[in-house]
Amino acid sequence: MTPDSIRHAYRDAAQEQVFQFFDHLSPSAQETLLHQAAAIDLAEIDHLVKTLVRASGSTSVDVAGVEPAQYVPLPRAGGDPAQWAAAKAAGESALRAGRVAAFTVAGGQGTRLGFDGPKGTFPVTPLTGKTLFQVFAEKILAASRRYGKPIPWFIMTSDINHEATVAFFEAHDHFGIEPGLIQFFSQGLMPAVTPEGKILLAAPGQIALSPDGHGGSLRALVRNGCTAKMASMGIDVVSYFQVDNPLVHCIDPAFIGFHLLHASELTSKTCLKTYAAEKVGVFVQRGGRAEVLEYSDLPATLTNATDPDGQLRFRAGSIAIHIFSRELVERMGDAKDPALRLPFHLAKKKVPTVDANGQPIEPSEPNGIKFEMFVFDALPFAKNPVIVETAREDEFSPVKNAEGNDSPKTCRDDQLRQWARWCLAAGKSIPVDSTGLPTVSFEISPLFADSGEAFAARAAEIDIQDRTILEG
Ligand code: UTP
Repeated sequence: MTPDSIRHAYRDAAQEQVFQFFDHLSPSAQETLLHQAAAIDLAEIDHLVKTLVRASGSTSVDVAGVEPAQYVPLPRAGGDPAQWAAAKAAGESALRAGRVAAFTVAGGQGTRLGFDGPKGTFPVTPLTGKTLFQVFAEKILAASRRYGKPIPWFIMTSDINHEATVAFFEAHDHFGIEPGLIQFFSQGLMPAVTPEGKILLAAPGQIALSPDGHGGSLRALVRNGCTAKMASMGIDVVSYFQVDNPLVHCIDPAFIGFHLLHASELTSKTCLKTYAAEKVGVFVQRGGRAEVLEYSDLPATLTNATDPDGQLRFRAGSIAIHIFSRELVERMGDAKDPALRLPFHLAKKKVPTVDANGQPIEPSEPNGIKFEMFVFDALPFAKNPVIVETAREDEFSPVKNAEGNDSPKTCRDDQLRQWARWCLAAGKSIPVDSTGLPTVSFEISPLFADSGEAFAARAAEIDIQDRTILEG
């Protein structure tokens, strides 16, 4: 597109305010603005403004016909051990056949943590301060060694952290993973708009852009050639996890096996809610389709409803761990029909912008609307969705906030509790307090053991004391 055709397109879309300072910009700033403008799908923005922005205020979610989703319980909660064993065997065989890739979404802004740098570079382990990326790398390496096949790792970044992420891996020799097995790619960006639907400028020569949500991963995988690469490598199973949870089993054979045995296109993990008001999305079903409803969309009558045995009726919480079939990613990531793509959600935010003279404005109230896609919205589009229970203490302790809940401190403690449980189950004596938190500090690398089972197999060779560090 030429500069003129870009500006004409913006004028025709009634978005010419984007170029209001254009003539006063330096040639390189003009080029940057044109580049940003050309990457925006104006028809998509127009559609979102008409369907979402103008309708906002009357967006209560319809919950008619919503039922709790069925899930596969853990063996300790009544699940069939033979079914779990069969799933594990099926997953292991897929891993030995090299059909599985790991996929981390790491494009978020991490505002709540307030850490200066990509969130994956945040130090998270209790003693050596390994970063989130290193923990995942070691888990992926451990699995690839166990199953004798390289496991490619796709990492989605965004413009705000792409270069820093790539540089971090280079500076750490990719944590021992062959560099060719790791593919970094940036997710898409969406402009913020005013309540009237006008695209906002962050500066005279800069559109207010932000990442298009973790759901942007589906189209980013397709647009960046990742699905084509997966196909050429014989990969049809994509193990999706977020950058903030070091307890995640990046590669989980039983989880993969349930996905394959059910010929599922999307398999998700659930942790059961611990109390009704817990702020977590829940898996529900209606009309034969599974979906995730955000906690804020579930009316109190349903949030508090209980089964005859006293358990919460809507208890299957979503923890953002999924297996995607490559086909589902290809189909949804490349869909021409908006009805077959992930929907956008809007969020009212304070978006720094400029006044009519190009002077910066730091709004004290929300002045803009941002658009994001959520990856779990793929669930209703997936054939044979499956939801599998996991134990929170074994798999979910995200670092979201600087302090309080889901903070670096709670996450370090949860890692220590997990290792202490492994030790105690393997007959090692470890002093713990009433919450199971060890009163000594130690650390177990996933390369030494990445599960209680793997730890038990090596327990005889080690002695744990305060400040013991077990590496691979
Ligand atoms: P969160 O919803 O926790 O958002 O992302 P965030 O941006 O990391 O943090 P806050 O809300 O600003 O504090 C959950 C996961 O989804 C990824 C994040 O990197 C994280 O792994 N994500 C989120 C993306 O990859 N892209 C996005 O646009 C949003």
